[in-house]
Amino acid sequence: MCNRVFSIALGTGLVVGVVVGVVTWLLVRTPVEEPPRLLDLDWWEHTVIYQIYPRSFKDSDGDGIGDLKGITSELEHLVDAGVGALWMSPVFKSPMKDFGYDISDFYDIHEEYGTMADFEELVAKAHSLGLKVILDYVPNHASIESHYFIKSEAREPGYENYFVWADPRPDPENPNNRLVPSNWISQFGGTVWEWSEKRQQFYLHQFAIEQADFNFREQAVKDEMVNIMTFWLEKGADGFRVDAIPHLFETEPDENGIYPDEPLSGNMFLNPDQPGYTTQVHVRDLKELYVVVYDWKTAIETWRWNNRTDAKVLLAEAYANIINTMLYYGDEKGRSGAHFPFNFDFITSLNANSNARDFAYIIKHWLTYMPKGNVANWVFGNHDQSRMPSRFRPNMVDGLNSLNMLLPGVAVTYQGEEIGMRDGFVSWEDTVDVAAINQGDETNYLDYSRDPCRTPYHWNNSTNAGFSTSEKTWLPVAEDYMEINLQAQKDADRSHFKVYQILTRLRKEPALSHGSYHVEALTANTLLLIRYLKGYDTYALVFNVGDEPDIALLNEVPFLKFPLTMVATSVHSPRVPGNIHTIDHIELDAGEAIVLKGPPT
Ligand code: NOJ
Ligand code: MG
Repeated sequence: MCNRVFSIALGTGLVVGVVVGVVTWLLVRTPVEEPPRLLDLDWWEHTVIYQIYPRSFKDSDGDGIGDLKGITSELEHLVDAGVGALWMSPVFKSPMKDFGYDISDFYDIHEEYGTMADFEELVAKAHSLGLKVILDYVPNHASIESHYFIKSEAREPGYENYFVWADPRPDPENPNNRLVPSNWISQFGGTVWEWSEKRQQFYLHQFAIEQADFNFREQAVKDEMVNIMTFWLEKGADGFRVDAIPHLFETEPDENGIYPDEPLSGNMFLNPDQPGYTTQVHVRDLKELYVVVYDWKTAIETWRWNNRTDAKVLLAEAYANIINTMLYYGDEKGRSGAHFPFNFDFITSLNANSNARDFAYIIKHWLTYMPKGNVANWVFGNHDQSRMPSRFRPNMVDGLNSLNMLLPGVAVTYQGEEIGMRDGFVSWEDTVDVAAINQGDETNYLDYSRDPCRTPYHWNNSTNAGFSTSEKTWLPVAEDYMEINLQAQKDADRSHFKVYQILTRLRKEPALSHGSYHVEALTANTLLLIRYLKGYDTYALVFNVGDEPDIALLNEVPFLKFPLTMVATSVHSPRVPGNIHTIDHIELDAGEAIVLKGPPT
């Protein structure tokens, strides 16, 4: 009996042994599929860029105007928000006709904003916190108070042709008549031509009268532009946002010195002083300009290699059609340009009336036209455009921030988007924007004014939203700061800021930094974005962009496997992060957005 038991045990032992052996052998033989190794990304390729409008971010000295020390004191906020780089609108010496975009000294800091030492301190602290600093670079024009303009107007040798100077167009009927050289219209309304008594010629300005356009056909101007960039690279700048590039060149006059007129657009609602009255074929997108951008890229790359630093970036501000926009990346000859041109499609092509199909179409539009091997980017607002929740709907803030953070490439946030700041009201009396003052009056100035998107940042619910201790701030603080402010959102269990923090953290997930994408409209109003990478968790955003509840099926969605875990939900959603979703459809409230995590594909 004992023997039988023994031999059965021995037999079982042998079988188990053999099975274990075979399984082990199989395991050793069959390689377990490892998730793919992730290529290292350069710092800028998947970062979040936070745009600071220095005048409105934080005032340190109580004069009602934001400044560099103010920015430096709040850099921790940017780290806390999870951004990787800040871009500051111009901080250079300026008479402030266009709030810093009219530079009088390209090598100095504007006194209201501080000193060069303040700038150096800002850069040093930012770098020590791991933040990159991108400056605004304004090559198209200079203030008429700049030494360049003063010398050019005086025809000082070397400066005669620094700007675009032109004689009056001859009037055959009256030789004493001083006609403007052409019918070109400035971006801020009125003729681009301004008479200089001193030089007895017109100069060209595509923006305000006080912003004279440089002449980019002059080699000395091109050289000086590179000098300016080099100066700031040496000061520690990590790159440049390049202003108004489409306007660098204008058509030259014919052999008799006559400039061609623009064709008329035929828009009968506009008067001859308004941009849009003509079709701009002579003052923007001229092919010469792309070569200048490629040369700048070469210049900063050369500097970077000589100095063995991290990448220095060039980001092009260009409102242009898609073909011209993509030329900023580089051309078919292999010349390389900006790291990216800003993608303004969410500003120019979508609004509160857009449905999910419009969103899917517009997202794919950029990704389809972008030349292979380049990095995409997404912009939802800036200091020239009505704020994101005002252009769309306030209940879409978390969904739009989710889109920004989950789409492939770089996310750009304009200060305040992380807390859902809306346009502030600025009365006609308080209006300071040249675009509104030039083109509007008391009845219609809000159609042109950029002041509403530039009102001060809401830090907390104290005086002036914690922006300044001054009695009067340069623009009024928006009235809704008691409800919408950073401190309140830090204190609340759920807030736009907390959603934003979850989203910026999520960007470290391999599917988001390195994965592929799938975008579709599940219904007319529910948008779906999936990010997936073999071997890694999949992420999906479902976002009802409509203004009523909507139901969408999730069962035929590619790359999505159940169970799904909610990782971010909009503030007004009945769901919270951690909820598990197992059913094949989802019902979303108006504006509701949910980010889901699923098993690897
Ligand atoms: C674009 C800037 O963003 C805007 O604020 C400015 O007025 C124009 N360029 C002119 O510099
Ligand atoms: Mg100040």
